[in-house]
Amino acid sequence: MKKIFTLFKPYYFKHEVRRITDIPVKILMDNICDFEHVSFVHKKCFKYNTVIKRVGNVTILEYGVRHLPLISFLVTNYFLIHQKISINKVIHKSKKIGTRNWVTSEITIEEYEENGILKTLYKSSHESFLPFYLKPFNFFILKIANHWSDIVWHEDYEICARGFELEKMAF
Ligand SMILES: [Fe+2]
Repeated sequence: MKKIFTLFKPYYFKHEVRRITDIPVKILMDNICDFEHVSFVHKKCFKYNTVIKRVGNVTILEYGVRHLPLISFLVTNYFLIHQKISINKVIHKSKKIGTRNWVTSEITIEEYEENGILKTLYKSSHESFLPFYLKPFNFFILKIANHWSDIVWHEDYEICARGFELEKMAF
């Protein structure tokens, strides 16, 4: 009997992304903490975002997320607590509005040198518990999450690369 209940328990889900780029930590971090650009730069992946409150390094927001960018009318509304805990680390707690299931996210960015060239390692992770009936589709959920993350990353990269070029010209 216990085994049957275990089958219906939510399962642990984790999505991780690692990216190596030439953009410095500060520019990437400024982008992550700039909420104003989200609803017009990332229109494919977000319907809206609203800042509810800011206290120090903590920002409380609501987001309308298009998990499937091709089906733009499908929007999931999230409540999100965004906390910049250091110059290279941000943590999030988010949940679908009307549910109790929290998603824990972490973004860390580190600069390192390789063959005399400065590089940046960007890491992000999202952890949650998903309903048991989604487990057989976990492979596809990860594919969708990767696709979504790639779109947002490329849109941000364009902005950050332009910012980096301007910064190099100014100094
Ligand atoms: Fe962005």
